[in-house]
Amino acid sequence: MAYFYKEPSYTFSEYLLLPNLTKATDTPENVSLKTPLAAFKNGETARLSLNIPFTSAIMQSVSDDHLSIALAKEGGLSFIFASQTIEEQARMVERVKKFKAGFVVSDATLKPDHSLKDMYDLLEQKGHTTMPVTNDGTAHGLLDGMLTSRDYRQGMDLSTKISTLMTPVDRLVTGHDGISLEAANEIIFQHKLNVLPITDTSGNLVHLVFRKDADSHRNHPCELTDKEKRYVVGAGINTRDYAQRIPALVDAGADVLCMDSSDGFSEYQKKVLDFVKSKYGNKVIIGAGNVVDREGFLYLANAGADFIKVGIGGGSICITREQKGIGRGQATSIIEVAAARDAYFDKTGTYIPICSDGGVTHDYHITLALAMGADFVMMGRYFARFDESPSRKIKVKGGFVKEYWGEGANRAKNWQRYHVGGNARLTFEEGVDGYVPYAGRLNDNLAITLYKIKSTMCNCGAATVAEFQRTARITLVSALSLREGGAHDIQLRDDDFMSSK
Ligand code: IMP
Repeated sequence: MAYFYKEPSYTFSEYLLLPNLTKATDTPENVSLKTPLAAFKNGETARLSLNIPFTSAIMQSVSDDHLSIALAKEGGLSFIFASQTIEEQARMVERVKKFKAGFVVSDATLKPDHSLKDMYDLLEQKGHTTMPVTNDGTAHGLLDGMLTSRDYRQGMDLSTKISTLMTPVDRLVTGHDGISLEAANEIIFQHKLNVLPITDTSGNLVHLVFRKDADSHRNHPCELTDKEKRYVVGAGINTRDYAQRIPALVDAGADVLCMDSSDGFSEYQKKVLDFVKSKYGNKVIIGAGNVVDREGFLYLANAGADFIKVGIGGGSICITREQKGIGRGQATSIIEVAAARDAYFDKTGTYIPICSDGGVTHDYHITLALAMGADFVMMGRYFARFDESPSRKIKVKGGFVKEYWGEGANRAKNWQRYHVGGNARLTFEEGVDGYVPYAGRLNDNLAITLYKIKSTMCNCGAATVAEFQRTARITLVSALSLREGGAHDIQLRDDDFMSSK
């Protein structure tokens, strides 16, 4: 006979937090939202932590290189979508890693005997207007000079040699290899430069340091960067072409990988984890999922997942529950998996972070997910609404919306996400194609959401995510209490009411 659960499964909206004592030190400024992303042993720190507990969904309509940069700037992490060719996805990863680095390796370098036409060709390809000139045109050749957009103008003879236009090296201010970012920025400031080339003792170009990167760092104190001050970026993978896709993404600089699948409780995922562990050991961080229960969690934990994603059927674009009758209320899933994670930690000494994926429709759902034991959340709809998401902004009925479609919708052509053997095509849809209200810039919206989470944590007397998970008190609410939670039994001051007066 089938197994029947005694309790129904619940979603976030059916729970509320109770306040704990707020101490005088519990102010939003004192709350840290730093949270681990990768598994760690008791007493050690995680190989990768997020500065805010937000990741963006592995979806075409959400996570490209632009959104990744915007989110990493605020301290979170994007997973670049996997439903594109390996080459395209690797290029997106590369673009994030190269976008802002304290020390950038030049990817648009000229030779002195290149022509102005060569420069325009390179500009079109790479999009940079500042280019170093080296003896052999390589990123680490002998530095001969620098060319910027101030060195040439429209209408010049296109055969003009770069050597006659560039500022030669003897008139350049340069920094020595090994200089700290702070010292490089000081030279940039003192000499009013836009870029500082860094050279080794033989005069070979090593890096470039840009003024815009220094300013950006100051304005974004939470930004999530790697040891070389490059933005941290994740990438989605699937259980079909992983043997080719993973090495390409790792080579492109992806800091973390995550399996993109609607059902992660599968031998296919174990195979991918085995592949990564045998090829890279602990060097590559890889998440698995999605699961909704203890059994699924333990399977992936024992298979070596560095973090585990939780949630089936709760996504805003998801119709898996209608199509297949599979899923579980998101809150119940998190509560059970978090308990399994804690028991696993007690037994093995290894803490495996869990991610609540999908179904966040109010900011407080994020707070509840953390209180229930999630270490971070993954969201699609939330980020799809912003300028930085890749989808089109369209005017509908006098207001603006952004397109948002599921990876299980025909439009995404992502049959690999639903791989359970058999056909190499999507036989039926598990997602829809629609719109979300346009909401403006990511950082403006995120600032409000973060402030709400921190304020709530102050109400609950918690200064860190870990403390919040330990001390939060949560209650189920009845259907009538839910009604009580919204505005009720008053006439709202809307236009109709006012105009009828
Ligand atoms: P949202 O934040 O509620 O919009 O949910 C986003 C999550 O839904 C993603 O991170 C995926 O786990 C999941 N998802 C994405 N596309 C589909 C789909 O087409 N069908 C079902 N679930 C999807």
